[in-house]
Amino acid sequence: MRFFEQNTGVAVVAPAKVNLFLELLGKRPDGYHELASLMVGLTLADRLTFSPRHDGEVRLSADYPGLTIGPDNLIVKAAEALRRRFGATHGADIRLAKRIPIAAGLAGGSTDAAAALVGLSRLWKLRPARDDLLTLAAELGSDVAFFFALPAAWCTGRGEIVEPLTPSRALDVVLVFPPIGCSTASVYRNVVVPPRPHAGGDARAAFLAGDVDGLSRSLFNRLEAAAETVAPELRRWREAIERVAPLGCRMSGSGSTLFALARSRVEAAALARTLSTHPDLAGCRVAAVRTLIDNRSRRPWT
Ligand code: C5P
Repeated sequence: MRFFEQNTGVAVVAPAKVNLFLELLGKRPDGYHELASLMVGLTLADRLTFSPRHDGEVRLSADYPGLTIGPDNLIVKAAEALRRRFGATHGADIRLAKRIPIAAGLAGGSTDAAAALVGLSRLWKLRPARDDLLTLAAELGSDVAFFFALPAAWCTGRGEIVEPLTPSRALDVVLVFPPIGCSTASVYRNVVVPPRPHAGGDARAAFLAGDVDGLSRSLFNRLEAAAETVAPELRRWREAIERVAPLGCRMSGSGSTLFALARSRVEAAALARTLSTHPDLAGCRVAAVRTLIDNRSRRPWT
C-alpha cells in the first residue's frame, strides 16, 4: 500500500482483495476460525486523502451513500487506535472515495483501515515500526494485516498471520457484484468446519507459476456453502456464471462478490460483456480487473 504526498496532505490508494483459496482448519476458543487463505490484491481500489486539522478532531467524509462515517467506521477506529498507541492528539480530515462495494467479501473496510494507518502515520509524522502497524492492524480486523503484505500473501491464524508471496504475472479477473451484501459474522455462524481440511498447495503452486488453468481447477472457498445458506440467490448467480465462464466461478471471502478467472484481458472483457447482459444476473454489476503484481499502486487521480 503506497502513499503520495500532496500539497494539502497525503493520499493513499487502498486496493480490494480476492481469496483464491480459503479453507477453515478449526474453531478457536475465542470464537474465531483458524483458516488458511491465498489472498491477492486487485486493481479495484478505494482512494483516501488525509489533511491536517488543528482542532484535534478526526472527521471522515465519503462519497458512498449509506456508509457509516461515525465511530463505527474502521477508518475512524484506525485513527483512534493510532492516536492511543502513540499518545498523539493530532486531528485530520479524511475523505474516502469508495469504489469497493461494502459487505462484498473484498475487504473494502479492512483496506481502508490499513490505508488510514499508513496515511495518518505519515500525516502525523509518527514513524511507527512495521510490527506496531501489524499489531494495530490485527486488532482492527482479521483481514487488515494482509494489506501490509501486498500484492499477495498466504494468510493463516484468523487471517492476520501473513506470508508475502511474489506473483509471476497479473491475472485477469471478472468480478460480479450481486445486489445484496453478506454479513461476515452470519456467514461464519453457518459454516461447517471440515474434519479433513483441503490443503491449498495446488492453488499456491499454480498461482506462483502463473498457471491460470491449474489455478482455476484449485480455486476453493469453504465459506461459499455457508453464504449460500444465508443468501440462497448467490447459488443461482454462481451457477449462471459457471455456465458461461470458461474457467468456472467462485465466491470471494464471505461474499457476496463472485469472480471468474480469464486467460487474457481480451477474454476477460468478452466475459464481462456477456455477464453484464445475462438475464439471470439482472441487478448484478460486472467489472473486469487485474490482480496486482507489486505493492506500488497507480498514482491517484492521474
Ligand atoms: O475480524 P473481523 O472483524 O473481520 O471478523 C468479522 C467476524 O467474522 C468475526 O466476528 C467472526 O464472527 C468471523 N470470523 C471468524 N474467523 C475468522 C475471521 C472472522 O469466525 N478467521
